[in-house]
Amino acid sequence: MTTRYSLSEIRDRLANARSVTVLTGAGISADSGIPTFRGADGLWKNYRPEELASPDAFARNPALVWEWYNWRRELIAAKQPNAAHTALVTLEHRAENFWLITQNVDGLHRAAGSRKLSEIHGNIWKVRCTQCGIVEDNHAVPIPIPPTCSSCGGLLRPHIVWFGESLAREDIERSLHALRSCEILLIIGTSGVVYPAASFASVAKEQGALVVEVNLDPTSHTSLVDASFHGRAKDLVPLLVPG
Ligand code: OAD
Repeated sequence: MTTRYSLSEIRDRLANARSVTVLTGAGISADSGIPTFRGADGLWKNYRPEELASPDAFARNPALVWEWYNWRRELIAAKQPNAAHTALVTLEHRAENFWLITQNVDGLHRAAGSRKLSEIHGNIWKVRCTQCGIVEDNHAVPIPIPPTCSSCGGLLRPHIVWFGESLAREDIERSLHALRSCEILLIIGTSGVVYPAASFASVAKEQGALVVEVNLDPTSHTSLVDASFHGRAKDLVPLLVPG
């Protein structure tokens, strides 16, 4: 544990802060049984992102991409939010100004009850028409391949930000506002290697926020943060935000 603060000091700071921002990654959902992307058992060990999660891959072979997303839909549909997701809902209700920025597309924060959030990489339960651009909720498991738009008949794609694509401008703006105005930034379960989220810790740090990390292992954020607690999100986050 590399930290200048004890867990109870951070718990007290969180309890008294008026403005809190949280950044989450795949590690918070790992405790619900959803695989992360990097690391020994990560999805990108067995699959190549450029073959499955890129606009080129979809243009080349939409059926293959949809088969992969159907596999992930089936896996995620069976999972429930864990104690870390729930603790963040408590924090949302407690802090006067709260914003959750998640890189996760699994929808578990919403399922837990989080409402003040940006899903900056999209949501696996939403589809977008490649012709008319309409975005719709879609919970089919499996989704029939090829899925088509109910309005215009165009091919649907997952409403997910793929490699080589930009984040939605409103998500960037909302996230930057939250990072520039928070007293505390809590970073949970992300390796901190995918941009722009990888730069969010320094945005908060530069304006004077206390930056705290919860992760199983040290990450690229660890040298920058004020406190880094190593362990499972489902164990540590409820200690930082008791119910
Ligand atoms: P990664 O798979 O890169 O990193 C997961 C992090 O969670 C690692 O730092 C692990 O040490 C940590 N971790 C694993 N289990 C944990 C647990 N139980 N408790 C706490 N921490 C744990 O996932 P992300 O950083 O989220 O993009 O990856 C960022 C983006 O890369 C994803 O959103 C995805 C991927 O390509 C898209 O799908 C667009």
